[in-house]
Amino acid sequence: MAAEPGGRMAGKRVLLTGASGIGAAAAARLRGEGAEVFVADKDPERIAALCGALPGVVGAAGDLGDEDFARAAVEEALVTLGGLDVLVNVAGLSGRRFGDGPVHLASAEGWDAVMWNNLRSTFLVCRYGIEPLLRQRRGAIVNTGSVLAYAPAAEHFATHAYAASKGAIHALTRSMAASYAADGIRVNAVAPGLIATRMSERAQADPEVLAYLRERQPLTGAPGAPDDVAGAISYLASDEASFVTGVILEVSGGWSVAR
Ligand SMILES: NC(=O)c1ccc[n+]([C@@H]2O[C@H](COP(=O)([O-])OP(=O)(O)OC[C@H]3O[C@@H](n4cnc5c(N)ncnc54)[C@H](O)[C@@H]3O)[C@@H](O)[C@H]2O)c1
Repeated sequence: MAAEPGGRMAGKRVLLTGASGIGAAAAARLRGEGAEVFVADKDPERIAALCGALPGVVGAAGDLGDEDFARAAVEEALVTLGGLDVLVNVAGLSGRRFGDGPVHLASAEGWDAVMWNNLRSTFLVCRYGIEPLLRQRRGAIVNTGSVLAYAPAAEHFATHAYAASKGAIHALTRSMAASYAADGIRVNAVAPGLIATRMSERAQADPEVLAYLRERQPLTGAPGAPDDVAGAISYLASDEASFVTGVILEVSGGWSVAR
């Protein structure tokens, strides 16, 4: 998608993590609205596919829980884009295959994998990415939490490390918003409901989950689209949200008001 010169993200230089699902949709949105976008993801094929599909978008492949890679990705984005205005943390995973689950069944390895990929990666991108924002005393950060952090669904989504990692991302978001508001840096998060991406393939294929969503996401009664979340990310990243900080913006078709 070509960048739109007069779009609401015109002139914004964005480091975005996550090259699939919600991250890919956000890259397309932000690019379409005029941003310069640098993407980081640990899957080189997803980086290649996204950069191939979105002319002008560039990226780097590596594990953002690895401090050296996270620091290097921020540095490469800074050099490539000529500066940074926005950080968007979307990369993350469900730890089910590593042993996440209800706490009495979960493994310590599952816990560590979830914290590494969801929380530590978000922390490290914030840790290094906020430095240029502080220098210019201006910028926006958008993190990705989840409705499961505060509105559980024990019957279908009892992955407690995942919920804890997303709750910690919400807390990090609000604490950072408080600390950096006077520096001109806004920090917000989106909290998606169930969205149709690779990550939620198991849930999308389960008739019981789909029946559950008819009540839990009553706006459509179905999984959301990645672009539903991308729209909220783009809003929070843009100057249209210039008086908005410390917000956890739920994008869920009504998940937390449904019951
Ligand atoms: N899909 C949903 O229903 C849903 C709901 C709530 C929150 N979320 C959150 O949205 C975000 C995006 O998920 P998605 O649904 O687009 O899934 P996805 O699997 O399509 O994309 C996630 C991407 O993050 C990358 N990634 C994971 N850990 C990484 C790491 N340590 N370093 C670099 N890259 C890493 C993966 O390689 C993948 O490309 C995640 O944080 C997820 O927790 C998703």
